[in-house]
Amino acid sequence: MNYGKLYGVGVGTGSPDLMTVRAVNVLQSVDVIAIPNSSKHTKSVAWRIAGSAVGPVEGQERLDLLFPMTKDPAITVPAWNEAFNQIGERLKAGKSVAFITEGDPLFYSTYIYLHKAAPERWPGIETEIVPAVSSFTAVPSVIGAPIADGQERVAVVPASYGLDELPAILKLFDTVLLMKVSSVMPRLVEILEAEGMLDKSVYVSKATMPLQMIEADLKKIANDKCDYFSMVMVSKGERNGILAGRFADTAAADAGNNANGQAV
Ligand SMILES: C[S@@+](CC[C@H](N)C(=O)[O-])C[C@H]1O[C@@H](n2cnc3c(N)ncnc32)[C@H](O)[C@@H]1O
Repeated sequence: MNYGKLYGVGVGTGSPDLMTVRAVNVLQSVDVIAIPNSSKHTKSVAWRIAGSAVGPVEGQERLDLLFPMTKDPAITVPAWNEAFNQIGERLKAGKSVAFITEGDPLFYSTYIYLHKAAPERWPGIETEIVPAVSSFTAVPSVIGAPIADGQERVAVVPASYGLDELPAILKLFDTVLLMKVSSVMPRLVEILEAEGMLDKSVYVSKATMPLQMIEADLKKIANDKCDYFSMVMVSKGERNGILAGRFADTAAADAGNNANGQAV
């Protein structure tokens, strides 16, 4: 069967001008834009980001799909199955479908499940992924904190799935990006304080969105109702840079020998 092409398109973390040119081009050229909504009453964040940049496209279908926000498989499995069936109907009719996601489509995104299911459901289907600015890069950018440099190691932790290993992770990694923190803030703040990391931690919600918030005093907001789109970034900055630690002498010599006299 000749299926239409399936795209997973990341639309970035909030500001429409952070969408890539490719994302806009693909979304303006496909037959169907598949829009994942978490409930029947709220409009997808991804579409709120992309809608104005894409604008009206004659003949294009905007297909609203329901992906309820729960980890309960009794709810998610039938809902996701129904959504995938609706996408399948369009693909079988030879239509191209772009599934949009907030941030990057391969970073904690619903598109990952569709991408895995696609070759089983629609054998031989062509797929393409359009990468995007992710919370992984947006949050550090609004804080102005480097993610990693030189010898530093980075960990990404989905906090709502458990924090028991966090003390060990904080010892091993120089930068820790804690995702999905909204439901675990009180416990998270407790651990960060016990590990002496509170003054190295910053909370960011809605990075690059109109209501962006940055808070360096985590105790102030620990018991507030935090936004779903929120992260905590912990940066130790202890061994950063090629000029730090055991490479210092070599790097300094390299910089001195640079033909332009510039540090490398
Ligand atoms: C299901 S994941 C989606 C990640 C997304 N695909 C990406 O590339 O960033 C949702 C989590 O990502 C983080 N997140 C996504 N966008 C964010 C933003 N604009 N500001 C802060 N955190 C964000 C939050 O931790 C949120 O709970």
